[in-house]
Amino acid sequence: MNYITIKNKNYKISRLTLGTVQIGTTYGIDSLGKPSNVEANSILKYALDNGINVIDTSPDYGDSEQIIGNFLNNYNNYNNLEIYVVTKLNCHHYDKNVWENRELIAEKIREDFYLSCKKLKLDKIAIYLVHSAPHAFVENGIVLDILSEIKNEEKIGLVGVSIYTDSQLKKCIEDQRVDVVQIPFNILDRRLLNSGLLEMAKKRGLLVFARSVYLQGLLIMDLERIPNYLKEAVNFIKELRKIAMTNSINLKELCLKYVLSLDTIDSVLIGINSLEQLKENIKIFDSKPLKKEILKAIENLPIPPEYILNPSKWVELKSHVK
Ligand SMILES: NC(=O)c1ccc[n+]([C@@H]2O[C@H](COP(=O)([O-])OP(=O)(O)OC[C@H]3O[C@@H](n4cnc5c(N)ncnc54)[C@H](OP(=O)(O)O)[C@@H]3O)[C@@H](O)[C@H]2O)c1
Repeated sequence: MNYITIKNKNYKISRLTLGTVQIGTTYGIDSLGKPSNVEANSILKYALDNGINVIDTSPDYGDSEQIIGNFLNNYNNYNNLEIYVVTKLNCHHYDKNVWENRELIAEKIREDFYLSCKKLKLDKIAIYLVHSAPHAFVENGIVLDILSEIKNEEKIGLVGVSIYTDSQLKKCIEDQRVDVVQIPFNILDRRLLNSGLLEMAKKRGLLVFARSVYLQGLLIMDLERIPNYLKEAVNFIKELRKIAMTNSINLKELCLKYVLSLDTIDSVLIGINSLEQLKENIKIFDSKPLKKEILKAIENLPIPPEYILNPSKWVELKSHVK
C-alpha cells in the first residue's frame, strides 16, 4: 500500500480508504443487503492487514460506527498501523431554533460528536466531516466554528466537508477552517478536474478524498442489470468499455487506476459489499499504472448529465421512469 503524509499533522494516509456505508446498511443500486457481522469483521481485518489505514463511516450508515468500534477494540494491530477513522456530522435533524442559538447548536454538535466517539470507542476522531456541505456554511459557518473549537481541544484532528458541487468545493478552498474535502469523482465524472478546482484545492493544501469511483457500482455492473431509470448511462459506459477492450484491461482496473493516477486526489474511497470485492480492488491497486495513451483517451470521454452522475438525484429519476 502507498501512503501520503500530511506534514502539519504527521498523518500517514493510505491511498485507498475503506468506505463502510455498505457494511452498516443496505446501500447501492441493487444491493444484496448488508454483509453479516462476521463478514464485516473479515472485511475490516483484511483491509487493515493489507495496509488500508483510513476507514470512512457516518452515524447515517446504520450500525457501521458500532461495528467499526467493536472491531477496532479487538483488532490485533501487529503492524502498529496508525488507523484514521473518518466520521461525519449530520445536522439534518436540527430544528430551526437550534440554528439561531449559538449555545444550543454547540450543545447539539457536541452531543452528536461524542455519540460517534462512544459508538467508535474512540476519545478522539482523526477526521470529522460535515456530511452535508450547506450545513457547513449557513449562519457564517457557525458549525465550522464549533468544530474548530473541538479541534483546538484536540478531540478532532482535521475538520472537513463532504461536497457534491463545484461551488461547495470553492467555498471549502476559500475557508481556512476546512482541512479536508470528500468529493464525488470517477472516470466519467471529471468535472472538478476539468474546472481546475481540484488543482486549486491541492494548492490550498486541502486533504482530498474521492468517492463514487465506481458510481455505486453502475460503471462496472453488467449492462443488462442497469435499471431502466439509469439506462441513459449505457452509451457512456459503452465508451468506457471500448477503451478497456482496446487496451485489454478490465473495466474495474480502468476505473480505479484512473482515479489513482491523479496526484490531486490523496485517497480513493472504495465501497464494497463483500470480502471478494475488497480483495479484487486491492489486487487492482497493486497492478501497474495506466499507459499514457489510455489517460489521453479518457480525457476525450463525454461526461454524462448531472442527474446520472449524482446518486442523490436517482430517487427522483426512479419516480419518473416506469
Ligand atoms: N456524501 C457522502 O459523504 C457519501 C456519499 C456516498 C458514499 N460515501 C462513502 O463512499 C463509500 C463508497 O461509496 P460509493 O457510493 O462511492 O461507492 P463506489 O465505490 O462508487 O461503488 C461501490 C459499489 O461498487 C460495487 N463494487 C465495488 N467493488 C467491486 C468489485 N471489485 N467487483 C464488483 N463490484 C464492485 C459494489 O456494488 P454492488 O456489489 O452492489 O454492485 C459496491 O457497493 C461509501 O462506503 C461511503 O463510505 C460518502
